[in-house]
Amino acid sequence: MPRIGYIVGSLSSASINRNVAHALVALAPEGVELVELDYSDLPVYTPDHDADYPVAAREWKSAIEGVDGVIIITPEYLRSIPGALKNAIDWASRPWGTNSFNGKPVAIAGASIGAIGTAAAQQHLRAVLGHLNAPTLGQPEVFLHYTPSAFDAQGALIDEQVKAILEGFLAAAVAHVETHAPVAVA
Ligand SMILES: Cc1cc2nc3c(=O)[nH]c(=O)nc-3n(C[C@H](O)[C@H](O)[C@H](O)COP(=O)(O)O)c2cc1C
Repeated sequence: MPRIGYIVGSLSSASINRNVAHALVALAPEGVELVELDYSDLPVYTPDHDADYPVAAREWKSAIEGVDGVIIITPEYLRSIPGALKNAIDWASRPWGTNSFNGKPVAIAGASIGAIGTAAAQQHLRAVLGHLNAPTLGQPEVFLHYTPSAFDAQGALIDEQVKAILEGFLAAAVAHVETHAPVAVA
């Protein structure tokens, strides 16, 4: 059964996307392990680092390379990807020739207080991941219009409709990861 890393595209201490990530962890089918891929220690990327990658960046790349697939749950900033998430992906893509997302199956979801539920950000993220040769799950698209009443005071998901959406997304994400699993050579 797969081990899937999840990336929360927000560094906010009150992130609604982190609430969604926690809901996904709670809903994970038996045997599927969801582990956070944390990028909060990364500095801002510049190619000056390529000759000697900092420890945080090496660990970040290893964490991505060590999971069977990735789920990204991201907010939308200015109709695009938050800068911190893009910075983390930039780090993962380098040094040249060591793209950690190469061939890595990815599924995307996002929540926003806005009406389009991160649809614009997710399109940009798909373009970035396509360039990195990361096969990205096409459907279901998960554009959550965040309503606080969907979660209880502890941040646990209580809305049955949203739960069903996330369960369907998780099932498709797991199937996507399994489809793209490397073939074992005897
Ligand atoms: C810099 C900035 C830009 C934003 N731009 C958008 C946007 O383009 N579309 C949108 O739906 N919400 C936008 N928002 C509102 C976010 O949906 C809202 O802050 C949400 O809580 C962010 O997710 P998070 O709580 O997981 O960090 C923006 C918020 C910030 C701080």
